[in-house]
Amino acid sequence: MITLDQYNFAGKKALIRVDFNVPLNSAYEVTDDTRIQATIPTINKIRKDGGAVILMSHLGRPKDGPTEKYSLKHLVKYLNDIFQTSVQFADDCIGEEATQKAAALKSGEILLLENLRFYKEEEKGDVAFAEKLSKLGDVWVNDAFGTAHRAHASTAVIGQFFKDRVCGYVMQAELDNAQKVLENAARPFTAIMGGAKISDKILIIERLLDKVDNLLIGGGMAYTFFKAMGGSIGSSLLEADKLDLASELIAKAKEKGVSLILPTDSIIADGFSNDANSQIADNKQIPDGWMGLDIGPDASEEFAKVIENSKTILWNGPMGVFEFSNFAKGTIRVAEAVVKATENGGFSLIGGGDSAAAVNNLGFGDRVSYVSTGGGALLEYMEGKVLPGVKALD
Ligand code: 3PG
Ligand code: MG
Repeated sequence: MITLDQYNFAGKKALIRVDFNVPLNSAYEVTDDTRIQATIPTINKIRKDGGAVILMSHLGRPKDGPTEKYSLKHLVKYLNDIFQTSVQFADDCIGEEATQKAAALKSGEILLLENLRFYKEEEKGDVAFAEKLSKLGDVWVNDAFGTAHRAHASTAVIGQFFKDRVCGYVMQAELDNAQKVLENAARPFTAIMGGAKISDKILIIERLLDKVDNLLIGGGMAYTFFKAMGGSIGSSLLEADKLDLASELIAKAKEKGVSLILPTDSIIADGFSNDANSQIADNKQIPDGWMGLDIGPDASEEFAKVIENSKTILWNGPMGVFEFSNFAKGTIRVAEAVVKATENGGFSLIGGGDSAAAVNNLGFGDRVSYVSTGGGALLEYMEGKVLPGVKALD
């Protein structure tokens, strides 16, 4: 795999696959720019070498071709500000305009192509479409870790049309940090798993049971465990078909000497809303008509203590419905503890998606070791899968 630092881009046109699939509000403003910020060093290294930059990405999941809502043109103003230059835009990713603008692009300049997913061929991994895209650049750089689990035209198939395939800084940092946690973790190693569903996390939990000292489980998925242990969980989230699995995971953790810690208490609510009535409850005795929406104060303190004593931390998934301010306390307490452990010299990797959003919204992004730009991609990589976007760089 060629790294960015091993390559001199002078006089070359670099076609870079980035993951600019970022959230936009109704005025098309970027509401979380973590993924864009992450790619700045890659783009600047190429410009500094004297290369020209052609950026390609998807945005959202458009179903029927070009759609205003999913146009990447909404990012141009934002990119102009970041790069202090006038970023060019081609209103198609292939075709006449893209070809001409790419051909005329000079050293140091940046061209952004329109959403790749406006073509069905992108997600199908169409070879002819990938070949057309490849004609725009001299060298392919893949920096889209967040989309590396997709075998799409621009993320994987395109590789075969380039002699030079370069791993971008984001991709490299993501792989290095995930490896560090999976292979060289300083102990104690604590994984914090949250979010709504066990089904999304089964494979990673099973793999982590061979590696971690502590496994903390919060969020909606914890209630299936309590139900499996014979508790009453009211109308909390339940994956009824995963009860046996939850029991098996508890048994496996015991067998492997992993301390699996479930929250002792919850903040429960009589409805799924920020304004619902709420109270604290023991997690095995949640009354009918009530649901757990956050871990409780005792659990928060217990989790925080384990986290603060850890040397390696992997966190994926919030502890509750943190979008509701009244049910965000557990997630905030965990985030504070992760920051403290990091300040004490520990290494903390925050998985993408909701936990990354939580950490960034709290302003803690710079106080943890690394916030991943990948949601599904990070999970699949940590499950041990070969990511098509990484394989294509070999
Ligand atoms: C993501 O945000 O998960 C990546 O950008 C990939 O997008 P996708 O899940 O729509 O393929
Ligand atoms: Mg996704």
